[in-house]
Amino acid sequence: MKESEIIKRYGLDILRSDGFKREKEYIQHGKVSVYEHSVAVAAMCVSIADELHLNVDMRALVRGALLHDYFLYDWHESGHAWHGFTHASRALLLASLDFRLGNAERDMISHHMFPLNRRAPRTREGVLLCAADKICALAETVCGRGEPQ
Ligand SMILES: [Fe+2]
Ligand SMILES: [Fe+2]
Repeated sequence: MKESEIIKRYGLDILRSDGFKREKEYIQHGKVSVYEHSVAVAAMCVSIADELHLNVDMRALVRGALLHDYFLYDWHESGHAWHGFTHASRALLLASLDFRLGNAERDMISHHMFPLNRRAPRTREGVLLCAADKICALAETVCGRGEPQ
């Protein structure tokens, strides 16, 4: 099954929600919106898990990845100087208000900024998200695209 189909299978309610659609309004890196970034990170997580035959909770992996940057503001505007340090906590708070989260999703969202945020993820899904987020962020910053070429 393709990554996009797996994302729809486990995250369709998130993709269709008004809150998640708001991520289209905010730029993450380059010309890539937070929405595009989050979907690309979810696809990267699924792809790595598949390639490495990792035993993961695929539903949690998709949902945590989609919601990891659910902070819902433009971090380029003034007043967000501490964005790198604070947005994981805010994303967890807002995501937990709008969606039902399990332990793996909570771990993924709250620890995805490791090592900038000093607490490391405790779940396999959280470690995977940490890596996928950085790969996608690098690709977006260097290539201006949502996925590495
Ligand atoms: Fe983030
Ligand atoms: Fe991210």
